[in-house]
Amino acid sequence: MDRIKYIEKWRMFKLDTQHSSYICALVDEPAYLAQIYYGRRISDDDVRSLASIGDWGGVPSSNPRDKLTFTDSYPFEYPVSGCGDFRETALRVRTESGHAACELFYSGHRIEEGKPSLEGLPATFGDNAQTLIITLKDPLIGLEAELYYSVFEDSDALIRSVKLVNGGKDALYLERALSVAFEIRRTDAELLTLNGAWARERHIQRNPVAYGYQGVFSRRGESSHQHNPFIAVLSGDCRQEQGEAYGLSLCYSGNFRAGVFKDPFERIRVMAGIDPEDFCWKLEPGDHFTCPEAALVYSAQGLGGMSRTYHDLYRDHLIRSAWKDRLRPILINNWEATYFDFDSEKLLAIAKEAAKSGIEMLVMDDGWFGNRYDDNRALGDWQVNEEKLKGGLKKLVDGVNALGLKFGIWFEPEMVSPDSELYRAHPDWAIAVPGRKAGLGRNQYVLDLTRPEVSEHVFRCLTEVLDSANIEYVKWDMNRPLSDLGSLELPPERMGEFSHRYMLAVYALQEKLIKRYPELLLENCSGGGGRFDAGMLYYSPQIWCSDDTDAIERLAIQEGTALVYPLSCMGAHVSDCPNHITGRSTPFETRGQVALAGTFGYELDITRIPAEDRARIPGQVELYKKYHMLIAQGDYYRLESYGENGAVDAWMVVSRDKSEALVSFLQVKNVPNKYWMGLKLAGLDPERLYRWEEGEAHGDSLMYAGLMIHYMPGDFRGKLIHLTT
Ligand code: DGJ
Repeated sequence: MDRIKYIEKWRMFKLDTQHSSYICALVDEPAYLAQIYYGRRISDDDVRSLASIGDWGGVPSSNPRDKLTFTDSYPFEYPVSGCGDFRETALRVRTESGHAACELFYSGHRIEEGKPSLEGLPATFGDNAQTLIITLKDPLIGLEAELYYSVFEDSDALIRSVKLVNGGKDALYLERALSVAFEIRRTDAELLTLNGAWARERHIQRNPVAYGYQGVFSRRGESSHQHNPFIAVLSGDCRQEQGEAYGLSLCYSGNFRAGVFKDPFERIRVMAGIDPEDFCWKLEPGDHFTCPEAALVYSAQGLGGMSRTYHDLYRDHLIRSAWKDRLRPILINNWEATYFDFDSEKLLAIAKEAAKSGIEMLVMDDGWFGNRYDDNRALGDWQVNEEKLKGGLKKLVDGVNALGLKFGIWFEPEMVSPDSELYRAHPDWAIAVPGRKAGLGRNQYVLDLTRPEVSEHVFRCLTEVLDSANIEYVKWDMNRPLSDLGSLELPPERMGEFSHRYMLAVYALQEKLIKRYPELLLENCSGGGGRFDAGMLYYSPQIWCSDDTDAIERLAIQEGTALVYPLSCMGAHVSDCPNHITGRSTPFETRGQVALAGTFGYELDITRIPAEDRARIPGQVELYKKYHMLIAQGDYYRLESYGENGAVDAWMVVSRDKSEALVSFLQVKNVPNKYWMGLKLAGLDPERLYRWEEGEAHGDSLMYAGLMIHYMPGDFRGKLIHLTT
């Protein structure tokens, strides 16, 4: 594999993915590292005539009287504050003397085979990779920045991260340490972000890139419902399958910042990393800090090309679970069925009815432990509530297994209720600022998992439960953000490390869990989709998408989610109607069709839903078995967006060999005086003949002329079309 080159003669680094090139170069002496090009793959190695590296008012060695003109405008590869780069920067370092000036010069590089892992952090992996490490150094304060760039043979993504090393004699304070920066030069750019709130996560938003800074962040200690750690910069003409898209996905689940800075010369600096607001990391001499990884994707095939690259990257190089390529069991979760009001009898009745319909796993949600009769108490008391589960957990699990179902369980390991045995015994384990009453969220505090005795206790609780019965699935929930950040152990000058240390502790705990139970199916969740990010995918192959199970609300949520994350990881369930969040009623078949886009399951009381709905479940189970592997492993194409057209939603998946495809069409609103539409398919082999229930046509006709879809009477009506060759 020869994807990374250093061209000595031109002092240039060139990295090629399958369809993109990334170029940076050394400029002046001592040498600055500048970003020269990122975009469609180019063949020339010598791009000096294309990119005027030295045209920014002269380099400092030849024009020292105007060094600031240079530093104010040069496309620095890893921009630093304090010595004349007045834009948004990636790094700010303070010394013991209180100064925050730093200037990075090239000090060496190496190219290695493979892809290194990241200490304590989630990271992509794979053997078929090459990695370039460029080291920059500030000669005065001794800070070294090792910039990592990895390229996989089979991917169009460029993986970046940064390791900061204190090679000096005094302590340094990282006040800002972002993972990545790169530049795009275009005037028609738009910024795409995924935003929302609880129950309406990851709605797509596009805005023109304006002068100055624009971006999203989370300061909640989790990646958040409000903004996803993903942004894309698009050409103005970027659509589903046309135009250019630059994606930036951060592999991190805590506080983040991702955004763009447009300077007066129309150059757009794109950056992401840990949010600097609550961050300050002390580096003693010899210490290092590893920034989370970021995956960059350039696509000349619009949003669709970008999504497919991310899906492949995360399926092939990030998700590790034994379950990643397996057909996951169809589960039924009792949350919307019972909330806290359940006992073994009720659960067994659900399991019994579920077994008859072909459902394969019962998941017991919140409320099975301690004194947990509502959400005001008992988090932290992970002992089985025997008033609800008479005879204990094992008896229930054995009973469920005897009905032919697997068993899964809910935990919220990071939390403690003030009204709990755990809190009464260890009030100091809850995160708080000494002397200040910490704010409650859902009547709960966050445990300080950075303290080894706390995380060991939590792990022991988890394993005691998991070892006590045949539990094959865990839903790991997290229902409030972090606030009142106070650690009893960190010294004052390290208090700014707390949020990141917390995230590292969560990762370590999940790592320990999946190492101890390699066959366990882990699903992450945070009050629905508050931690739906690439970081979590390293630990769990699926994440609960949203607490909003309304089929129509899910269209926007799942469209935004699938823009970056593979369908195989999108937790999606059929629930009862009227929907508990929106009060809307939709046909049972439609709910099934929408949930088929993800991991598929049920979130209802199967013993109480209308008999005609229950009778439809075996058919849905059959559909899931028939189509899920195609959905989970195929290439995804978004055909129509309800958010854009206000009437229909459509997407499709095509098998890798293009022999098969599945189209999901959903008519949200019936359109008066319109009887049909031509739905243009995508991703098919133009020359192959495809057959479906009602007809046959070649791929080119289906893609360029479109498949005729007749509108159906009523609203919320769906249709699945299976194409075979
Ligand atoms: C939030 C989750 O998203 C729900 O599915 C459910 O598990 C509740 N928490 C339980 O408290």
